[in-house]
Amino acid sequence: MCHDCSAEAPPQPPPSRRSVARLLVAGAGLSALAACTPEGPSPASSAPAGTAPASTSGSARAASGPPSASASASPTGAASAPPATSPATAAPAPPSAASRLSKQYSLTNPASPWLVVNKHRPLKPANYVPADLVQPRVALAVSGEAALLNRTTAAAAERMFAAAAAAGVTMTLASGYRSYATQTATYNGYVSARGRAAADTASARPGYSEHQTGWAFDIGDGGGACSFQPCFAEQPAAVWAKANAHHFGFVVRYPWMLHSITGYYYESWHLRYIGTEAATDMKKRGIGTLEEYFGLKAAPGYP
Ligand code: DAL
Ligand code: ZN
Repeated sequence: MCHDCSAEAPPQPPPSRRSVARLLVAGAGLSALAACTPEGPSPASSAPAGTAPASTSGSARAASGPPSASASASPTGAASAPPATSPATAAPAPPSAASRLSKQYSLTNPASPWLVVNKHRPLKPANYVPADLVQPRVALAVSGEAALLNRTTAAAAERMFAAAAAAGVTMTLASGYRSYATQTATYNGYVSARGRAAADTASARPGYSEHQTGWAFDIGDGGGACSFQPCFAEQPAAVWAKANAHHFGFVVRYPWMLHSITGYYYESWHLRYIGTEAATDMKKRGIGTLEEYFGLKAAPGYP
């Protein structure tokens, strides 16, 4: 999301989305609001930024403290959809709320469903390309690489879109996979239009985007005016996804007012696959971010 306040600002009592939108329309933050479109403005013609990845912070605790871990809570036991690679090849996750789940996956392997990529944790390699990109059989609002997801995410998306349709909710795939080159062009477009600071609240630098992993995608509602805008949060697709996406293994990755942890303003359209067991566990415990759930440092800005 990109419509409330600075990512560097301290946490504040959450105003309503409508009141914030009114402020912005009044001119307080139009630049951030306009930076919400995932493809951004026309890419700059200058050379790609090619931001050098910074080092990761493997298993540090979250700055906001450990997630609430009810002693009575227990994993659902329901198996997640199979990950793209065998967990046996992945480094174990650090102790965290997730450690009680029936399976553990790497937080650093880009082929792991528990990969955490944020402003402190670039993709390695930076030019990572998923080996199993496929086009899901869902309503598409895009074509080409943007219509691709990794195989596990695509299968889960198919189940979720079908359930949404059965509930009478129109949902489209609005932006899926983005290569390093595409993310470079997207990010540079934001920078050219809004400046680097504003760009960093809405668009990941190349090598730092979940879209490059195939584990994330943006949803639309078939062409409504609110696509990629703050008001999308009140549209049926976003309302339904927020309430139901965990059943299919997805979380809303950049929740409302948690930008001091995630580094990005609320993106009600950006869903991330982590598996049904972990997504349901997060939902049940009211944990909003992967950083908190996996016991990682908050990542409000680049080091
Ligand atoms: N909009 C999200 C943060 C991305 O660019 O990956
Ligand atoms: Zn997104």
